[in-house]
Amino acid sequence: MSEILTETKGSILRVTVNRPEKKNAMTSAMYNALADVFNEAAKDDDVSVVIWDAAGDSFSAGNDIEDFLKNPPGQGESPQARLGEALLNLDKPVIAAVKGVAIGGGTTLLTHCDFVYAGESSKFKLPFVDLGLVPEFGSSWSLPAGSGYIRAAELFLLAQPFSAEVAVEIGLVTQVVPDTELSETVTQTAEKLAAKPIGALRATKKLLRQSSRQQIDQAIEAELEQFSSRVRSAEVREVFTAFMEKRKPDFAKAKEAATAK
Ligand code: COA
Repeated sequence: MSEILTETKGSILRVTVNRPEKKNAMTSAMYNALADVFNEAAKDDDVSVVIWDAAGDSFSAGNDIEDFLKNPPGQGESPQARLGEALLNLDKPVIAAVKGVAIGGGTTLLTHCDFVYAGESSKFKLPFVDLGLVPEFGSSWSLPAGSGYIRAAELFLLAQPFSAEVAVEIGLVTQVVPDTELSETVTQTAEKLAAKPIGALRATKKLLRQSSRQQIDQAIEAELEQFSSRVRSAEVREVFTAFMEKRKPDFAKAKEAATAK
């Protein structure tokens, strides 16, 4: 069974991340497949709206940690960069349906969607600092742009989980709904959008986003410079290895490894 599923109804394309047993953690192959779907949707005149949801009880636990250790993204082309670019280039409305955990990229990518509906079970988290990393997908610009600096600093630097209500307050989420009503709410918004003139929708989305694009691209470039070296550091290796071994990270070990080199 594919880990990225698509279904089209009329001009509404639904793309479902389908790896529920791993909380929809994203591998390189999944980033590439999702990027392909968004790129195709941009070109396909029969698609006017995209719904992005996930199977099981979670939206996404972020990068797949094992895959990340094997294929750490560099500064140039990477599956993560391809997905970010595809989402930013998609000039049709994207509606995200979130429930359960939305961690790392599961939260930061939402800053580039047009509607984000969150079930009451949603729990967001920006864990980068605790992982020894820095923000990605331009979120070091897009999150404070929505929430203000002080709120963004709290969420990024403390890296504590936050609720759907907080996500509304900081401008990340459109509306919180009971989990049981999430699918219906998303479908209703998609149908309303699909009934509108697509040319005007695309032109308006482009106008709304044009002033931020340059800043997001600059943020992505600066983030990647830091990210690509941090992800190869002994600290990060220890955090990720500890996760896979189901234990707490031991930073003394990471220090020893770094000094031994
Ligand atoms: N990468 C790889 N595997 C992951 C994962 C990730 N980011 N997140 C969860 N999984 C896997 C777990 O290893 C587990 O696999 P297993 O059943 O083979 O042991 C499975 O998904 C279920 O996760 P589990 O931890 O048992 O569920 P939970 O409900 O107790 O906790 C999370 C869920 C998401 C809170 C927890 O798994 C977690 O903190 N994951 C890491 C999130 C993260 O830091 N993401 C950013 C990475 S850059």
